[in-house]
Amino acid sequence: MIPIYIMGREYMVPETLTIMKAVEYAGYTYIRGCGCRGGICGACGTFYRFLGDYRLRSGLACQTVAGPDMVIMQLPFFPSNRPDYVLDEIKGSPHEELRRLYPEVFKCIGCGTCTRTCPMDIDVMDYIALMKRGDLKGAAHKSFDCVMCGLCASRCPAQITQFMAAMFVRRLYGKYILPRAGHLEKRVSEVKGGKYEKALKGLAAMKQDEVKKLYVEREREPDLAEPGKWMPKDTTNL
Ligand code: FES
Repeated sequence: MIPIYIMGREYMVPETLTIMKAVEYAGYTYIRGCGCRGGICGACGTFYRFLGDYRLRSGLACQTVAGPDMVIMQLPFFPSNRPDYVLDEIKGSPHEELRRLYPEVFKCIGCGTCTRTCPMDIDVMDYIALMKRGDLKGAAHKSFDCVMCGLCASRCPAQITQFMAAMFVRRLYGKYILPRAGHLEKRVSEVKGGKYEKALKGLAAMKQDEVKKLYVEREREPDLAEPGKWMPKDTTNL
């Protein structure tokens, strides 16, 4: 058992638990700040320190393992600048629109606190620099793993809400910069035209065993691990 401190109070919890599980073990019930439990939704942003260590650390409560003498504070919500916009109505250049909606992005002082705070190891400061230079494609790609926990914004001395600006940039990129997916448009119009209605109705009318059989016998790519297909037979030297 190890001692941890939640909102200033000491609790003994088993070691190896994540912060989230340790908090629950201590008797708290999550009504906010817990979502996927899998490091995807960003709902469980957490700050912590260790007693006797000046450094303020951050992480996702569902992913970070609680350690002895950890002093924990969760931040399930962070008030952020989130201006309204309608993507279809953007008239000027996407970069100008970014400047209009998120002027604070251009006040970045390059301290790197956001990058050090990010629990997803994203180089936040770098994608902000790309935004400033007008490289929205680069910023969209670099920020793609963001889980919107908001920890970067909570520490930024320039008061930038990096994760919100990045979401806007990814949307701009998807709408105005990325080439349109012709095959997707074709498939959507097929779906809307009712091409699959009959097959869908047939599927819905099937018994469970028939659906299972259909699933087992479905067409699929060759098994990657099956010798003689993609993998060489003798893998001892790999
Ligand atoms: S609960 Fe979703 S990231 Fe932690």
